[in-house]
Amino acid sequence: MKSVFVASGSFLPPKVVTNDDLSKIVDSSDEWIFPRTGIKQRHIVEDETTADLATIACERALEKAGWTADSVDLIILATSTPDMDFPATAAVVQKQLGASKAISFDMQAVCSGFVYALSTADLYLKAGKAKRALVIGAERMSSLLDWTDRGTCVLFGDGAGAFALEAKETTEEEGLIDSILYTDGTQADILCAGSKEHPKTFMNGREVFRHAVAKMEEVSREVLDKNGYTADDITYLIPHQANDRIIQHIGKSMGLPADKVISSVRNHANTSAASIPLAFDEMAQAGKIKKGDLIVFTALGAGITWGASLLRI
Ligand SMILES: CC(C)(COP(=O)(O)OP(=O)(O)OC[C@H]1O[C@@H](n2cnc3c(N)ncnc32)[C@H](O)[C@@H]1OP(=O)(O)O)[C@@H](O)C(=O)NCCC(=O)NCCS
Repeated sequence: MKSVFVASGSFLPPKVVTNDDLSKIVDSSDEWIFPRTGIKQRHIVEDETTADLATIACERALEKAGWTADSVDLIILATSTPDMDFPATAAVVQKQLGASKAISFDMQAVCSGFVYALSTADLYLKAGKAKRALVIGAERMSSLLDWTDRGTCVLFGDGAGAFALEAKETTEEEGLIDSILYTDGTQADILCAGSKEHPKTFMNGREVFRHAVAKMEEVSREVLDKNGYTADDITYLIPHQANDRIIQHIGKSMGLPADKVISSVRNHANTSAASIPLAFDEMAQAGKIKKGDLIVFTALGAGITWGASLLRI
């Protein structure tokens, strides 16, 4: 049994905040932000909830897949910005979609959340515990920002992306080939939010940068090597979209040409768990994802958590 990719969808809230807009509320500038991060703008919610963003991304994926909502039996929503302490935001998405037969739960691995959720859905599908899954990354990172802290508030944005995956008996090489996940809780204090000491997002930027470049490259190589591939075999590397300097650094270290290394951080900023499916869906909408493509997704986030998934379209 394999977990085969069927379709993707995404949604960005309409309100756009540019670097110039931000410079009016914090002591910063496009001249500082863009060269260090590659970010030009971010989308920010007005009254949309995380469930709203996720629901629209799923509706778009369902439409492309040609599935009805009640044919879905598993919904996994990766988010660090749930709408309530409980119930899970995934349960609200289930209701809003009308996916009445799906078990639905949230997954919290911050910026690695989508890779953790893909890996979990893959286990359900391969084990025959589900047939059709929606795997979502959805975030309102704007709710976790201190808008007076220029060191963090310029880096994040809101949005959602979703994959429709289906269990299929096939001898062809297609679908999720493998995922490798890691957690190192000893580094929990370098990036956190919601504690007494740090009610909003706190980040030791240099430390996060150091871990991100080393670990995303390492785990991407590991997932390729373990499955008999090299970097030369991949069609695209789609890393977590936090900082274009991190993304380009990983691509260069892996010897990949620029057109294989996907970066959408310029327009989205860091949307945490939503960043990978958003970047992917943008490629899909542009007609750049084809049957047979071999794609590595890799992410690192608070925890710290990191991982990589290998997908054959
Ligand atoms: C955030 C990041 C771009 C900061 O770059 P940096 O070169 O490390 O910058 P520093 O934080 O050391 O700050 C350098 C100076 O710029 C200032 N600065 C910070 N943010 C600023 C901003 N938005 N505008 C203007 N100046 C800013 C600092 O106050 C500091 O000034 P000082 O030297 O007078 O004290 C970089 O560390 C980074 O990308 N880290 C990884 C972030 C990430 O990917 N996080 C998510 C992972 S899931």
